[in-house]
Amino acid sequence: MSTDSLIETRLLNAAPATLAEAAGILRAGGLVAFPTETVYGLGADATSGLAVAKIYAAKERPQFNPLIAHVADLAAAECFGVFNSDAQKLAQAFWPGPLTLVVPITQNCAVSDLARAGLSSIALRVPAHPVAQALLHAAGMPVAAPSANRSGRVSPTHALHVMGDLEGRIDMVIDGGAAQVGVESTIVSCLDGKVVMLRPGGLARAEIERVIGRKLDVPESTTINAPGMLASHYAPKAKMRLDVTSIEKDEAILDFGGRFADVQQASFDLSPSGDLKEAAANLFAFLRALDATGADVIAVAPIPHEGLGEAIRDRLARAAAPR
Ligand code: TXA
Ligand code: MG
Repeated sequence: MSTDSLIETRLLNAAPATLAEAAGILRAGGLVAFPTETVYGLGADATSGLAVAKIYAAKERPQFNPLIAHVADLAAAECFGVFNSDAQKLAQAFWPGPLTLVVPITQNCAVSDLARAGLSSIALRVPAHPVAQALLHAAGMPVAAPSANRSGRVSPTHALHVMGDLEGRIDMVIDGGAAQVGVESTIVSCLDGKVVMLRPGGLARAEIERVIGRKLDVPESTTINAPGMLASHYAPKAKMRLDVTSIEKDEAILDFGGRFADVQQASFDLSPSGDLKEAAANLFAFLRALDATGADVIAVAPIPHEGLGEAIRDRLARAAAPR
């Protein structure tokens, strides 16, 4: 996008008048960034290919990955996707919340081909954040929304992260404070009788298995099931060194549980008390802050595998992937 096409991006608090105006922008085919409990999303009318195309332009996303369609509740979701019994159980247990379900499209699914990247399945999510809920009710349409960052950057957990990445490219940012979960939604597909985790996220694997009453199915191939999940998707400028047990000179530190509390270097502790929920909530903001120090390398303390540790480790591995 060239600088002469910059537009004014308004950053507003989530007052009722703001939400009404935001809904109007969406109806007119514009772009509104809004808070969800996972990360901030960059929303457009999912039924309009033209509006969805603006998302890709603003993010400078190289490929047309399929996007998540956000709706207010399960009843709205059922206009666009077919929910088998597993999908219904999961929706009833975890919606609204940090879960995205991939299901077959309905026969007259109004979500645009571009938002679905032409697939015969659709990713649907009912976010819990009160501002997202209010916006979806006011808009009265499915809202396509990837994370509101420029392509290749880590996901935004504060309105100011969104402004830093997308100011001048979108119409409005609704400030709803810090995202509470801090990593993206867990994506689970319910297709052909199988239940497969496509992306670990804010809802832990064990919670999902408890509700379906069995282990998740293993993905059929190692090819990319969620096309947006390319290895280097979450990319700080610094190199990343993971699971470190000792620190090199000049490295910035992403700590966990106070392991490197005594080291005299730029350091953020994801959770001094070793709480994985707190660590997830801090992850992207701390990666941005450490990257901003200009350090060449960010050294990351070991993060446990269980619970939300699976999603945190997944994002760190992607941030560390060669690119
Ligand atoms: O927490 C979140 O999920 C955030 C907030 C804004 O809702 N959104 C988000 O969107 O992370 P995005 O675009 O960054 O990631 C969506 C993922 C992509 O990896 C995409 O490939 C996958 O969802 N996806 C969408 N439709 C799909 C489908 N039909 N089948 C498989 N994967 C799909
Ligand atoms: Mg993203």
